[in-house]
Amino acid sequence: MISDKVVSILNEQINKEFYSAYLYLAMSAYFDEIGLYGFSNWTKVQAKEEMDHGMIIFDYIIDRNAKIDLKQINVPETNFKSALDVFEKIYEHEKYVTSSIDVIANMSMDECDLATRNFINWYLREQVEEESNANDIITKLKMFGDEKASLYLLDKELANREYKKHEYN
Ligand code: FEO
Repeated sequence: MISDKVVSILNEQINKEFYSAYLYLAMSAYFDEIGLYGFSNWTKVQAKEEMDHGMIIFDYIIDRNAKIDLKQINVPETNFKSALDVFEKIYEHEKYVTSSIDVIANMSMDECDLATRNFINWYLREQVEEESNANDIITKLKMFGDEKASLYLLDKELANREYKKHEYN
């Protein structure tokens, strides 16, 4: 049995995942404007993954025979100053998303909803990876600071990221 409280917080999480997609798209557009096309690719791929995250919750709510309640998606920030600034914002944002997933995990336990508690495990693992990915890129950006040649090489590396539909498993 899924409670109204759990359905409500899962619907909120759909909104957060789609907001994340918007935020990554805004970042992708920024990188495109400043000619960092690999960074633009990386953030665009991430935006697609965020949409997958939202859709997996959408399907889960329907599978539980509960009601979808889509909310307005906020306008994302567009005031970015550098690649490092963007990735520090990504890291902060992903930590925020992790904390909301933690709340869902705790609430599903409080509500004796073990199916949702089990479902949300995938997101807990996913958040570890997302925070780590952002942190790795921050480390690289800090290592060579404003060195243009290194930024160029990192841009080439990030151009290799390919989108694969994010399957729940
Ligand atoms: Fe879907 Fe980046 O958390």
